[in-house]
Amino acid sequence: MQSYSLFAPAKINLHLEIIGDRPDGYHELVMIMQSVALGDIINIRANGKEEIRLFCQNPQVPLDHSNLAHKAVSLMQKNFPAQARNFGGVDIHIEKKIPVAAGLAGGSSNAAAVLVGINLLWGLGLTQPELRDFATHLGSDVPFCIAGGTAIATGRGEQIEPLPPLDNIWVILAKYSNISVSTPWAYKTYREEFHHLYVQDSHGITERTNAIHSGKLVKAIAHKDSTQIGKLLYNDLQKSVLPEYPEVKNLIDQFKTQNVLGTMMSGSGPTVFALCENQAQAIHIKNTINQTIKDPNLQMWVTKMCSHGITTTQAP
Ligand code: C5P
Repeated sequence: MQSYSLFAPAKINLHLEIIGDRPDGYHELVMIMQSVALGDIINIRANGKEEIRLFCQNPQVPLDHSNLAHKAVSLMQKNFPAQARNFGGVDIHIEKKIPVAAGLAGGSSNAAAVLVGINLLWGLGLTQPELRDFATHLGSDVPFCIAGGTAIATGRGEQIEPLPPLDNIWVILAKYSNISVSTPWAYKTYREEFHHLYVQDSHGITERTNAIHSGKLVKAIAHKDSTQIGKLLYNDLQKSVLPEYPEVKNLIDQFKTQNVLGTMMSGSGPTVFALCENQAQAIHIKNTINQTIKDPNLQMWVTKMCSHGITTTQAP
């Protein structure tokens, strides 16, 4: 049976700005997304049966239809019934390295890999923009995960414009294994507390009055100016998450005492990232933070920005 092995990188948000409400209940966003080299390996093959079967070594990963990778297969089966009948179900093996429910788009990246994998497996010949359209039905972060790299994402997060690639900055990721943050809660709390920053425009769309523009960061990225990139990190969701999760705030405060380019929460958290000039510095700071905080639940990874999204790691 033919199979494909795909690399599915995690992402961090260098900028996450909530600029208004949307009629569909989501929020209007301006985000700058960045892939990192920490990623999962997804193996996908036709199983000649009717079912979709998921396998993963990490017991935290659901293996049923609640998993976005499962939903990605169902979506393609619905849209390509002839191929679905011809090839039958699929087996998906997930080698999980990305922390689960962390604000690092692990589930979204897995779903993006499944879309790319089914495209290859069934010989659909879909282009990247076509794959992105399918991805939009699965979640706001999934379209970015397909091409990855560095990109500005607007709308719900699904409208992607690539930016010049960054791959020379090192990234420390830090997360408490016993803390999880609900994404809908983080957005809802932000909306409740900061709605006064919105105004209604003539089209009925609400927009923030004091929108902070991501332009400076875009310029710093174009110049590959890591010092400026570190200084310009931004995430509105810190305003709702940090007061409720003092451990996450403390992690950020600890990174600020170190010689990092910048530090911020990723997405709705709880993962915090810190940017460093080089690998040796990143490893040194990771060890220092570990010794300072001394909590067995604190997990840390050293990785690097990367300039791509889903890639095939092995010929069929
Ligand atoms: O799109 P996704 O399912 O990943 O979004 C998860 C949750 O995050 C949504 O249910 C919503 O509460 C919130 N969200 C939002 N506005 C966005 C993206 C996500 O309010 N643009």
